[in-house]
Amino acid sequence: MGLSASPDLQVKLGPLTLKNPVLTASGTFGYGTEFLPFMDLGRLGGICVKGLSLRPRRGNPPPRTCETPAGMLNAIGLANIGVEAFISEKLPALRRHNTAVIANIFGETVEEYAAVAGVISSAAGVAAVELNISCPNTERGGMVFGCDPEGTRRVVSAVRAACALPLIVKLSPNVTDIVAIARVAVDAGADILSLVNTFLGMAVDLDRRRMALANGVGGLSGPAIKPQALYMVHRVCTAMKTPVIGMGGIMTARDALEFLLVGARAVQVGTANFLDPASSVRIVDGIRDYLVEKGIPDVNDLVGPIPGRAGPSDTGG
Ligand SMILES: Cc1cc2nc3c(=O)[nH]c(=O)nc-3n(C[C@H](O)[C@H](O)[C@H](O)COP(=O)(O)O)c2cc1C
Repeated sequence: MGLSASPDLQVKLGPLTLKNPVLTASGTFGYGTEFLPFMDLGRLGGICVKGLSLRPRRGNPPPRTCETPAGMLNAIGLANIGVEAFISEKLPALRRHNTAVIANIFGETVEEYAAVAGVISSAAGVAAVELNISCPNTERGGMVFGCDPEGTRRVVSAVRAACALPLIVKLSPNVTDIVAIARVAVDAGADILSLVNTFLGMAVDLDRRRMALANGVGGLSGPAIKPQALYMVHRVCTAMKTPVIGMGGIMTARDALEFLLVGARAVQVGTANFLDPASSVRIVDGIRDYLVEKGIPDVNDLVGPIPGRAGPSDTGG
């Protein structure tokens, strides 16, 4: 096989086709248009916008982010402008760009999730819904929907019934067995799975002798979580046929390629956007360069799973 000067980057994830496998991750890329000074948004496979709720939310008091070794913690508290304002104020400008707009949504009750899904699915120019199931259920004492099979089943079924768009369910890594939750999500109607959301974590400000985040606990992201995220993506991809979007600590094209090799069909870039706002397009270019260099004509040829066993108890330690 000769060198392919322009390898095929298009990927198909069930009902969703993307021009390339690189998306930006929800909560790290605003509503997309903030990044126009840094890139042509049309070069991205897709943009997952900040999580949207039925009504606007102010989120948690500051400090709500802090740096950690090889990562960051955030406890933004899902601050957002609300789904209606997104549709009227942000979506018209965003959908002018030739990229898939993915609406990340959440709610505090099953009804709220379904209501947001209903509103967003009637808006023109949204390619898919990404369901963030890492939200505390206020009706069940704050237990996170995605951390138990029954909560997952209820919320995914309700959103599926309310939404005709391709449905991506974004899994929490804060569970004992991610494959069990993934199966429930697919049985309840998910077309695509995305993983992982942030890992629960905490940081202490020793000089002020208090928690670094006003909220105490936060979500850990960035390179610190990449091995854990890769492992979870690998487990889901080997156990199931559902298309997966992988994420967690992707900073470079090589990181993204590792997720494809373990079975993800596409990736999302999150924390990297805070270091270099153009990192997502840099990653698109790097994936293309790798394919050219290796003489691989189509990015789909890379998608794993690669050989090697890694079950839940193979710690070897
Ligand atoms: C500041 C911040 C805000 C986030 N907000 C959301 C959100 O609104 N909805 C969501 O599903 N994930 C949210 N996430 C999680 C990311 O989309 C992503 O799953 C996670 O950060 C892991 O990827 P990374 O290591 O590349 O950042 C947020 C992450 C960060 C750092």
